[in-house]
Amino acid sequence: MSENAILEVDGKRYEFPVLRGTENEIAIDLKTLRSVTNGIITLDPGYKNTGACKSAITFLDGEKGILRYRGYSIESLAEKSNFLEVAYLVIFGELPTAAQFKKFDDDIKAHSLLNEEMKNIINGFPKVAHPMGMLSSLTSALTAFNPITVNVHSEKDLYNAIVKLLAKFPVLAAWAHSVNQGTPLNYADNSLDYVSNIMQMMFEIPTTKYVINPIAVKALDQLLILHEDHEQNCSTSTVRIVGSSEAGLFASISAGVSALWGRLHGGANQAVIEMLEAIQKDGGDVDKFILKAKDPNDPFRLMGFGHRVYKNFDPRAKIIKAAADELLAELNINDPALKIAKHLEEVALKDEYFVSRKLYPNVDFYSGIIYKALGIPSEMFTVMFAIGRLPGWIAQWKEMRLGGEPIGRPRQLYVGHTERDFKAIETRK
Ligand code: CMC
Repeated sequence: MSENAILEVDGKRYEFPVLRGTENEIAIDLKTLRSVTNGIITLDPGYKNTGACKSAITFLDGEKGILRYRGYSIESLAEKSNFLEVAYLVIFGELPTAAQFKKFDDDIKAHSLLNEEMKNIINGFPKVAHPMGMLSSLTSALTAFNPITVNVHSEKDLYNAIVKLLAKFPVLAAWAHSVNQGTPLNYADNSLDYVSNIMQMMFEIPTTKYVINPIAVKALDQLLILHEDHEQNCSTSTVRIVGSSEAGLFASISAGVSALWGRLHGGANQAVIEMLEAIQKDGGDVDKFILKAKDPNDPFRLMGFGHRVYKNFDPRAKIIKAAADELLAELNINDPALKIAKHLEEVALKDEYFVSRKLYPNVDFYSGIIYKALGIPSEMFTVMFAIGRLPGWIAQWKEMRLGGEPIGRPRQLYVGHTERDFKAIETRK
């Protein structure tokens, strides 16, 4: 039995189909709204209530704190899988067989060398350049070395573009780190797994062999899994909308990196650690910062708190908090930032302001403590998030292009001047 939603405007009645997703989520299909109503549009700043697409990649229930990639819970993937295997799942829809995984890994490794001319570009950045700016520019620069836009209707071309990007993106990220550090640009080591390789490229210096610490690799691998996809967030929507103009994969991902950079999105992980360190420097008075966060006249917000979709808890934050505890204990690190973070969380979760607004720690609240323990500087935190999110961006781009979605082009409610007569410059006041 089909369901309809009724809309009444100016005494006229319109009916629109109601759609249900596989998890019984309900949407009103307003595709025909403008045509049947002669121009009426919806107005929804920030898209708080707007579904931009149908998607089969990630399911998220913000009230219940559920997050699943392709039907698999984030908890089971974080415990039992690895970053590259989950990347395959997210991008291609199924967990790989052993043979599929080996081919995927080999194909990525076959593309891990960057064109040496990329060094001319990277050498142009000043040492103080933010690595997210470098990563976005360098990802875009990949288009110069791959000038033919991928034909998405050729399975082989699409697959090649995907493995190429998965191979080169972490090298670009590591190189951005090297520019900041003033250290040589490292190459990938194809004898290593994907995540060990990221650490090797970031930390190896010519004078000292970098020794891979399996505890560190496991912690980073798990963190990256938790970041792999998060349905239609700001950067993913950016990737989809840029790609909807038929801009290429690398150009679309470069735009996603820029969108992720902001501190209300992925940039929050850097902002959190800076906030925790500022609280520590200030004497550790958590209550003072809670008061600041609640003050409507103070722009300060508790970074790493609140989420557009999660209104109960962020399941990623739960896993990351436990992982941070475990890692610091294993590495024998005593970071006062972790103590301050836990204290902040405890106070906020009892405070009426945060409780009534359903503000809980999000994925970025504890992740920086792990990155810091791994020796990753705070400017690189959002870059690590980008490496984690890359498979999700690719999967969403692929789904959008193969689904034949129309170009993204929102409408607006015009509230400017009505028509005016042009005034010659000498008559203007
Ligand atoms: N500290 C203090 N107050 C907050 C916070 C916060 N972190 N987050 C939301 N609020 C208040 C906000 O002032 C508003 O209060 P009121 O109703 O009195 O005006 C109410 O809560 C609702 O907030 P909103 O800004 O309308 O909610 P939103 O869904 O538009 O924004 C958010 C979500 C994540 C941008 C926001 O919670 C925020 O700025 N958080 C801090 C930044 C952050 O941690 N971002 C990472 C998000 S998760 C990872 C990711 O996306 O990459």
